[in-house]
Amino acid sequence: MKVLVVGSGGREHAIGWTLARSSQVEKLLFAPGNGGTAALGTNVDVEATDLDAIVTLAKEEEVGLVMVGPEDPLVAGLVDRLTEVGIPAFGPTAVTAQLEGSKSFAKAFMENHGIPTGAAASFTVVDAALAYLDELAKTSASVPVIKADGLAAGKGVLMPETFDEAAQAIRDILIDRRFGAACDSVLIEERLVGAEASVLAFCDGTSLAVMPVAQDHKRLGDGDAGPNTGGMGAFIPSPVITPELLADVEARVLQPVLKGMAAQGTPYVGVLYAGIMVTADGPRVLEFNCRFGDPETQVVLPLLESDLVDIAFGCIDGRLGELTPQWSSDAAATVVLASGGYPDSYPKGHPITGLVEAAEAGGTVFHAGTAVGSAEGEPPVTNGGRVLAVTATAPTLEAAVDAAYRAADHAHFDGAVRRNDIGRDVANGKGADSDGKGTPT
Ligand code: AMP
Ligand code: GLY
Repeated sequence: MKVLVVGSGGREHAIGWTLARSSQVEKLLFAPGNGGTAALGTNVDVEATDLDAIVTLAKEEEVGLVMVGPEDPLVAGLVDRLTEVGIPAFGPTAVTAQLEGSKSFAKAFMENHGIPTGAAASFTVVDAALAYLDELAKTSASVPVIKADGLAAGKGVLMPETFDEAAQAIRDILIDRRFGAACDSVLIEERLVGAEASVLAFCDGTSLAVMPVAQDHKRLGDGDAGPNTGGMGAFIPSPVITPELLADVEARVLQPVLKGMAAQGTPYVGVLYAGIMVTADGPRVLEFNCRFGDPETQVVLPLLESDLVDIAFGCIDGRLGELTPQWSSDAAATVVLASGGYPDSYPKGHPITGLVEAAEAGGTVFHAGTAVGSAEGEPPVTNGGRVLAVTATAPTLEAAVDAAYRAADHAHFDGAVRRNDIGRDVANGKGADSDGKGTPT
């Protein structure tokens, strides 16, 4: 069958690379894809958020399956639109994708269903929000986290150090609308402390299958210095979530989402991603995402031994319970190479070299912000903030991390920046993560 992958990041290249290993896939289309996906199939010049054009493309090409990577088209209802015209699409519907699309929706849902998360209050009126903050300041020394309600490309979470900064963050969101349409309301949330991990599960509306738990590195610099990014690397296994904790997260977080969504007549189908912080009081949900993570996908999918097409249809048809996705027991690490200047402004168009050598050194190179070269035989060029994710798998985390760096050393473009400590502290047995937060008590 023909499969259409919607999106253009490292996540979508990894999804396409995994689909290319399926004997059921004859042709891959990417909308719009990147310089790496062009080598796996055909890139079509259609934006992931142009729902009309994607539906038209899927109909014209008679695709048998659409895999939707990013959150924006999911929240906008792409899966609903494709389903209406009879095209199987993997991902949640617009209503269920609200778990990511609206933080106040997600918080209310968690409160209604007893899912452990930080205490929070949601406001649309600035004076009410500031009054609530004043009350908090009287009773608590801990400055809350301030979140814009809607989708803000990963930038909508502000972590002020003082109550004055928190008040400013509230004004930035509700008055200045710093994150545009994401700013209709603000969430003021209790600040939690602990180590973080990403728990992702395939869901078919009633049953689920968890993936190996990954940890990503959100900050730009080594030792978690510098600004937050979309993620500078990731690794598996994560020591943060022990098998006992994972069972707890399944029972108290993931299952209640499925039950709650099914009970309101909107079953959750697709990937459910719970950002978990393991606090002294147990696991707490920081956020839900309604899709695969980026760069988590680049470490998770190389470990998948089952056919992703079977799993996707198992989810869409409500038969996931009959399948048991098989995973390699190997470790995996991925190192992101980003453009100089990311996450702020950065140049584009720099030639990227050394990718054949990186692959020969044992790495799988997933393209993110790249475009095909201007002429036949020309190397791909940089076209975004995060440019490449170089992944390696091995029996131990230490070997996977070493292999990922050995491969990444070959990849070059002007101004490239990367972290040199992805997975290192855990591989060296130094702690739960590189955030210096240590293993939670
Ligand atoms: P989110 O996009 O909601 O995952 O937030 C991005 C990052 O902000 C998370 O990975 C955490 O590091 C941090 N964060 C979010 N919510 C909280 C919270 N309530 N307490 C502490 N840190 C948080
Ligand atoms: N790596 C975080 C995310 O995909 O949202």
